[in-house]
Amino acid sequence: MNHALLDIHLTDGDADAALRADVRAGLTAIPKQLPPKWFYDARGSELFELITELPEYYPTRTERALLERSVDEIAVTSGADTLVELGSGSSAKTRLLLDAFFRSGSLRRYVPQDVSEAALRLAMDALAAEYPRLALHGVVGDFTTHLDRLPRGDHRMVAFLGGTIGNLLPEERTQFLRQLRAVLHPGEQLLLGTGLVIAEDVLVRAYDDSAGVTAAFNRNVLRVLNRELGADFVIDAFAHRALWDAENEWIEMRLVAERAMSVTVAHLGLRVQFAAGEEMRTEVSAKFRPAGVRAMLEEARFAVTRTWTDPDDRFALTLATAT
Ligand code: SAH
Ligand code: AVI
Repeated sequence: MNHALLDIHLTDGDADAALRADVRAGLTAIPKQLPPKWFYDARGSELFELITELPEYYPTRTERALLERSVDEIAVTSGADTLVELGSGSSAKTRLLLDAFFRSGSLRRYVPQDVSEAALRLAMDALAAEYPRLALHGVVGDFTTHLDRLPRGDHRMVAFLGGTIGNLLPEERTQFLRQLRAVLHPGEQLLLGTGLVIAEDVLVRAYDDSAGVTAAFNRNVLRVLNRELGADFVIDAFAHRALWDAENEWIEMRLVAERAMSVTVAHLGLRVQFAAGEEMRTEVSAKFRPAGVRAMLEEARFAVTRTWTDPDDRFALTLATAT
């Protein structure tokens, strides 16, 4: 029988205060913007899982194939007793890592961390049944602010998969890697998944699929605002847009107001105007070049141990060690 713990570093009250601050700042900014972490209520997390299965959305299956090739080497090289995963979601690909760590014999504990309590609880229930010998220690938290509260271990490996690091803006990314390095001991590892810069049409299709699942995921943030903050967004009056920003080398998701509108956010006592055609940024998904991945890791005092890339150079998995 395994034992499962769940730490709540982000209470409903904390999440509400953070959402209010982000929405007030984002809807009064020019241009308007919202941070992507608010996509992930229970429905948003489910929609993300559907995205991972879309034919156009190559990142998940590409990273899975890279993990299949590399997990045994990663587990043996790492020798970690604790696997921490940031933004763990459904922990679907993590099972490959867990199995490899069991084969190599070192792992005792898995620490999935996610801002979405609903996704984390679902994942932990499934993992508890599948891995009865594994100690599970879930953490509901924000990886941009709560890294210092992660459980300690004799030797941890931190997995940050899916390319989620690309959803941070450049300054947030630098800050995140520095904070992560500050809580790790020399010799502990980071396993980082990053989407790579590839052909624009392939990238844009991955974020604007023909079934409209990504559009529903994008609009879901408005549902979250309606429910949590008493906003009155007319969801269908916003169109999904994905574009490649070649200068910043990131995909940008936006919501486009299809007509002029006035929106009230009751809990904030806020009324904002949208002009017809006005665009609000809801996510960036930065893509990287291999040299850029190495540089950002080294800048944060991680040494690259090994990198795996797929034959089409769409995605990279990098094992790095805190120096
Ligand atoms: N790692 C999984 C899930 C990626 S989806 C995969 O590779 O498929 C991104 C995940 O990060 C979601 O589960 C979301 O809830 C979580 N997330 C987004 N912003 C976060 C933040 N600031 N802190 C913690 N988790 C966050
Ligand atoms: C979680 N993250 C890495 C996804 C991405 O590809 O940037 C979120 C996503 N947005 C649209 N589709 C998927």
